[in-house]
Amino acid sequence: LFPKQIELIEVGPRDGLQNEPVLVPTEKKKELIQKLARLGFARMETTSFVHPKWVPQMADANEIVNYCNQLGITYIALTPNMKALKRAIEAKVPQIAVFIGASSAFNKKNINKTTEESLDECNPMFAKAKENGIFIRAYISMSFSCPYQGEVSFNEVLGVCERFVKLGADEIVIGDTNGQADPKMVYERFLRLRELFPNTVFTGHFHDTKKMALANVLAAMQAGIAKFDSAVGGLGGCPYSPGATGNVATEELAQMLSSMGCEIGIDVQGLQEVSHFAKSLSSRD
Ligand code: HMG
Ligand code: MG
Repeated sequence: LFPKQIELIEVGPRDGLQNEPVLVPTEKKKELIQKLARLGFARMETTSFVHPKWVPQMADANEIVNYCNQLGITYIALTPNMKALKRAIEAKVPQIAVFIGASSAFNKKNINKTTEESLDECNPMFAKAKENGIFIRAYISMSFSCPYQGEVSFNEVLGVCERFVKLGADEIVIGDTNGQADPKMVYERFLRLRELFPNTVFTGHFHDTKKMALANVLAAMQAGIAKFDSAVGGLGGCPYSPGATGNVATEELAQMLSSMGCEIGIDVQGLQEVSHFAKSLSSRD
C-alpha cells in the first residue's frame, strides 16, 4: 500500500530560513547545513539566487554555495529566472529549482511575471541548464489553493505540469505553498498526475498551516509518491504567501516514516538535536 523507500529532501536552509525577519548569520547557516549533511540527507535545498531586495535572507547565496561545494554535498539552489541560472552556473551548482505558481496572481507577486511569462522563460533556461549538466527540479506552487486567487483547479496545475514535462524537468514538485490542502485533494491530484505522467518523478511539498501536512504526506504516499520535502524544526514559509506557516517538520515526518518501517536513510535520533539548533536560529515563537 505504501512505498517502502522514501527520499526526504531537506529544505530547511532555504524554505526554512528565507522568511525569517531577522538575518541569520551565514556562519550559522553553514553550521546547519553541515549538521544536516551528517544526518544522511542525500540532497537538500540550501539557498536561492533571488534578488536580495525581494528576499534579504538569501543575500549570501554565493557564500553558501561555495561552502556546499567545499563540503561536497548534493544540493539544490532556487533559480527564478535566467539571471539566477547564470549565477548558479557560475557558482557550479549541481541542481537547480525553478518555481512557478499554478495561480498566475501568486506568480506575479512572487517573481513579478505571469505564469505564462515564467513558463516562456523556462524554454531557454531548461536548455541552458541541460547544456551544463544541471539537474532540474521544477516546482508548481499553489497547487491546491492560492491566497490571492482562491481555489486552484486541477487543470491549472496540469497546464504547468505539461509544460515542465515537455521541457524535460528531472523532478516535478507539487507545492501546497499556503498549507490549505487536505488529504482527499492530495490523494486525488497525485493519483491523476501519476496516471497522466507515469514516467515523471513527483515530489510532495507541504506547508503545515492547517496541521494537515503529515496527513497529506500519507495521502500522497497512498497515491504512490515516494519523495517529500520537509524542513527541520518545521520552519519555513514563502514571503509572498501571507498567512502560511512552515513546512512539515523533518523530525516529525522522519519519526512517522521510520515507525511505519519505511527506509529513509536518515539518523532519526540525531534529528532532534539539529531540530533544536534550527529552531534556535528562528526569531519566531
Ligand atoms: P524583478 O524586479 O522583476 O527583476 O525581480 P527584473 O528582471 O525586472 O530586474 C530588476 C533588477 O533585478 C535588475 O538589476 C536585475 O539585474 C536584478 P538592476 O539592473 O536594476 O541593477 N535581478 C536579479 N538580481 C539578483 N538575482 C536575480 C535577479 N533577477 C533580476 N535572480 C526576481 C524578479 C525573480 C529577481 C524577484 O521577483 C525575486 O527575487 N523573487 C524571489 C521570490 C522568492 O524567492 N520567493 C520565495 C521562494 S518561492 C517559495 O518559497 C515556494 C516554494 O517553497 C514552493 C512552495 O512552497 O510551493 C519554492
Ligand atoms: Mg515552500
